[in-house]
Amino acid sequence: MQSNLVTVSYLAAGVLFILSLGGLSTQSSARRGNAFGIVGMLLAIVATTLTAFSSSSLALESVGILAGAVAVGATIGAVVAARVAMTSMPELVAVLHSFVGAAAVLVGIASYLAPDHQLTGAEAVIHHVEIFLGVLIGAVTFTGSIIAFGKLRGTIRSRPLLIPGRHLLNLGMLVASSYLMLRFLGTEHATTELLIMTGIASVLGIHLVMAIGGADMPVVVSMLNSYSGWAAAAAGFMLSNDLLIITGALVGSSGAILSYIMCKAMNRSIWNVIFGGFGADEGAAPAKAKDAGSEQREVQSLSGEATAELMREAKSVIIIPGYGMAVAQAQYPLYEIAKLLRERGATVRFAIHPVAGRLPGHMNVLLAEAKVPYDIVLEMDEINQDFPDTDLALVIGANDIVNPSALDDPQSPIYGMPVLEVWKAKTSVVMKRSMASGYAGIDNPLFFRDNTRMLFGDAKKQVDAILTALRDTK
Ligand code: TAP
Repeated sequence: MQSNLVTVSYLAAGVLFILSLGGLSTQSSARRGNAFGIVGMLLAIVATTLTAFSSSSLALESVGILAGAVAVGATIGAVVAARVAMTSMPELVAVLHSFVGAAAVLVGIASYLAPDHQLTGAEAVIHHVEIFLGVLIGAVTFTGSIIAFGKLRGTIRSRPLLIPGRHLLNLGMLVASSYLMLRFLGTEHATTELLIMTGIASVLGIHLVMAIGGADMPVVVSMLNSYSGWAAAAAGFMLSNDLLIITGALVGSSGAILSYIMCKAMNRSIWNVIFGGFGADEGAAPAKAKDAGSEQREVQSLSGEATAELMREAKSVIIIPGYGMAVAQAQYPLYEIAKLLRERGATVRFAIHPVAGRLPGHMNVLLAEAKVPYDIVLEMDEINQDFPDTDLALVIGANDIVNPSALDDPQSPIYGMPVLEVWKAKTSVVMKRSMASGYAGIDNPLFFRDNTRMLFGDAKKQVDAILTALRDTK
């Protein structure tokens, strides 16, 4: 009876997770999707605990220890999640992926050291394959995620580390791991083989992510998300836990699909990202060295009041938010500006680049927080062709996503990535604090175009100044 209950709970949790993923695919249903996920996870935890008790692998006295561990973990998770700034979310996600990887390694080694003697013959071989692969994927995920965390945080340089013969090195590590797997399967006590492979897979994880440049990090985080799902699924096989297998497979496949979508949006090859800098040009110019002579060229700057004047005259305005808007939290007064301009009869829309900010959907979340209606928030593909018919493009704290070298400079590290073509508007105003580069660390020729004006200063202060100027002349 109890096992039936657990099966039904697992099924219900699985369905809730699928509904959750479905809900998260659009902004309007995202909250509901989150709620499904929370209920599914609660159900999963309760059902798994019940299974552990019913199979008597957990003594009743251990309840205190289990409850204590869950309480400590939940408290740390809640405090960290409540405190983390939206802009640091990818770092947090990378750390959480590393936990999944570490858990898969520990579960694998533990199941090998405390074997299930009931398994014999083919079943035992399959179980050992599960352990070996689970530990391998887990170790790659663990160290890869730690490196991704360092790169996103800026403690590890974001430029790719392109060691000569790196693909051979990766291949060598895979061949060595395959040889160790054969020995592992053919030997009675093969803890040494398992541990040596763990070491090799850890180095592989470090090397794969070190070879990826800053501009591709969003895809790497999503790829590691997928790996962590497969590591969890492998742990599910080792523990014979169906729900962990289902959940791991959902995370693994949705992460892989997201990586593919992001690669398409950035015009990157998914193999390039998986195999770490495959086809990256070792001889490419250093990230900051492009656009020679830019130091000598002058930019044309203007004030907040002058920007307000341009806005008053504009019939059509496209606002392009980026990472700097998130840092400055300028979305609230920005929407006030959009409302004022709309009241005056102008067409105002927001253009969202797929990798604007620091995580997928970053800008959508911030604009939704400020209650910007969804119908004036458009994706890059929906709005890019409208710039030539636009009077004013207002770029707020964005840089790489509006860099024309992505289209016209084959030497640029971001060459081939589709960007928002703001320079095609009659005038574009770029709001940022200085001439500093963005995440990819490269110069932006947009700033020097004849129809570009720079509005220097913190995005929040400048947006407030424009709002005041617009209200004063209402
Ligand atoms: P960035 O290219 O990073 O440019 C942001 C600009 O904002 C900077 O040049 C900075 O210039 C300015 N800024 C910072 N603080 C500001 C403030 N308080 N007020 C005004 N401006 C401020 O951002 P983007 O255009 O959004 O492009 C995103 C980049 O991040 C891409 O390279 C992308 O690949 C990468 N990335 C994206 C993700 C995802 S999934 N979205 C994840 C990781 C990395 P100043 O210092 O001069 O102010």
